[in-house]
Amino acid sequence: MSSTVEQVKSKLNIVDVVGSYLKLDKAGSNLKARCPFHNEKTPSFFVSPSRDSFHCFGCNKGGDIFEFVKEVEGIEFVDALKILAEKAGVKLINEDRSQKSEKGRLISVVENAVRFYRGELKKNIAAKEYLTKRGLTDDTIEAFKIGVAPDSWRDIYDYLKKLQFTDSEIERTGLVIRSPKGFYDRFRNRIMFPINNVSGVTVGFSGRILPTSNQMPHEAAKYINSPQTDLYDKSKVLFGFDRGRVLMRSLDTCVLVEGQMDLIMSHQAGHLNTVAVSGTALTDEHLRNIKRLASKLILAFDGDQAGFKASQRGINMALSEGFDVRIAKLPNDVDPADLILGDPHTWSESLKNAKHIIDFCLEVIEARGYDSRKFKMEVQNLVLPYIASLKSNIEQAHFVNVVSRRLGIDEGPIWSELKKLSTENIGATTKTVENSTEKQEVIKTSRAESLLKRIYGIILWQNEIDNVDVKMISEVIDKLKTIVGDGRYMMLDSIWQNSKDGLIFEAEVTNSGSDDIAGTLAALITDLEEETLKESLNNTIIKLKKAEQREDDSEIEKILKECQLIGENLSRIKQIKISNNTYA
Ligand code: GTP
Ligand code: MN
Repeated sequence: MSSTVEQVKSKLNIVDVVGSYLKLDKAGSNLKARCPFHNEKTPSFFVSPSRDSFHCFGCNKGGDIFEFVKEVEGIEFVDALKILAEKAGVKLINEDRSQKSEKGRLISVVENAVRFYRGELKKNIAAKEYLTKRGLTDDTIEAFKIGVAPDSWRDIYDYLKKLQFTDSEIERTGLVIRSPKGFYDRFRNRIMFPINNVSGVTVGFSGRILPTSNQMPHEAAKYINSPQTDLYDKSKVLFGFDRGRVLMRSLDTCVLVEGQMDLIMSHQAGHLNTVAVSGTALTDEHLRNIKRLASKLILAFDGDQAGFKASQRGINMALSEGFDVRIAKLPNDVDPADLILGDPHTWSESLKNAKHIIDFCLEVIEARGYDSRKFKMEVQNLVLPYIASLKSNIEQAHFVNVVSRRLGIDEGPIWSELKKLSTENIGATTKTVENSTEKQEVIKTSRAESLLKRIYGIILWQNEIDNVDVKMISEVIDKLKTIVGDGRYMMLDSIWQNSKDGLIFEAEVTNSGSDDIAGTLAALITDLEEETLKESLNNTIIKLKKAEQREDDSEIEKILKECQLIGENLSRIKQIKISNNTYA
């Protein structure tokens, strides 16, 4: 096993693995991004190619490619290994069923179902013809692993049972439904679209009814989806996301469509940066996944009034996440799948000409030809909520100005309507409050402690590099020992055993490229000395108060001398800092 791990590690580098999930920006010799593991506005997540690891200074998560995939996918090590081995083209030998994790077993059930449905499609001429008629090429059918569920009650169940999967395992993938008479297949006589998680592992299905189907009316929903399962978390998974990541990142744009067919046809037309909500509601988690890769969002929902209303919540969420939200206007209310089938060029043009949501809404309302009073009302109802959701104040001001000119009224009343809307939006405010308390929790450690950590990190980092200034470092260590005490210094290594990697990482990120490490260390040491003195002054004053309560005069005198000594040292350090000009 461990040799497989080594093999996978040697074939993949941290930048490619992390980069397939996040948009990484250069930061000196490292790369940085907004952390995928906690909510943050400024990036504190760093990837170091030379250390082959990642580290977040905000939430303190860090490690190698396996650790990253485990965290980002929320899976166990064995499953992370499987994903990465596949990516690296390394074969996993001796994959013993019983040793696999539970989730791994469920993944395997679904994998086999995909294989089964694909096999069925090869035999089903009518289904194949239907897909061809919809415009899907053979390559697309292969790429999306599209299949068909036969018109029967127990085919997938029997197939999976023959492969030695248990009833519980099969049921927990949502492929079958339990009834008093036993299990029966959830998907019957349907085109089967596998739904993958971010890394391309199939976690569920969406099944479209076949036009030839003569199912009972109550079963005849056009689409049936797998239920929420241990594998399939509907609030996280977006159809097509796993195939869209790379282009989404490079174009900084994500195209959002409604249906499975829309998505597949858009990908086939070359717009791989398309994802689909496919029947489930858009969540902030979906948006956060997209935001890691792209800042522009183009919505191409059906242009009818219903679609407009249904997507309003999603649009508000996207605006408040800071997305640049645009709408692609489709001719005559066709959906993307039908448009692309007849005219892929117009689809590309619609995406290219997508308009900002607020400009788009204003145009739609204007085109309705209302009288001026009704026009103003509609703008207030449909457009102002979007302006209120905008994250950037500058953008807000821009659109207030646009609306003011369009309506021919002053900005004043528009601003006061907006204020009303944002006080109604209490949800958003509590969220920011929660975030800020969270941040304060993180920085509770004393300032002296964090200075000590930074210095120690630099020492560890310097000891790793070839041209280290040994004399300078050993002087720093001597100085540290006098400040924190020999004994405590010796213990640092074991106290910080588990965070060592992070400390080194931070040192490297903040100091690599600097030509004055000695100067940085000297300044940190001075700060540490000052903080340590301040802390001990505080403690001494507490002792003094207690002695005063006891009226212990000799003790009081002793403590006062200590205070004086500390005070003298503090003013000595102040002098040093003033002469080094480190006081701002
Ligand atoms: P096609 O006819 O295959 O092109 O589907 P469509 O996308 O044109 O269908 P429609 O516009 O009616 O629905 C849009 C999307 O909503 C679909 O792609 C599905 O994801 C979803 N949807 C439609 N009907 C159902 C349904 O009966 N149940 C569920 N769960 N989702 C549905
Ligand atoms: Mn359609």
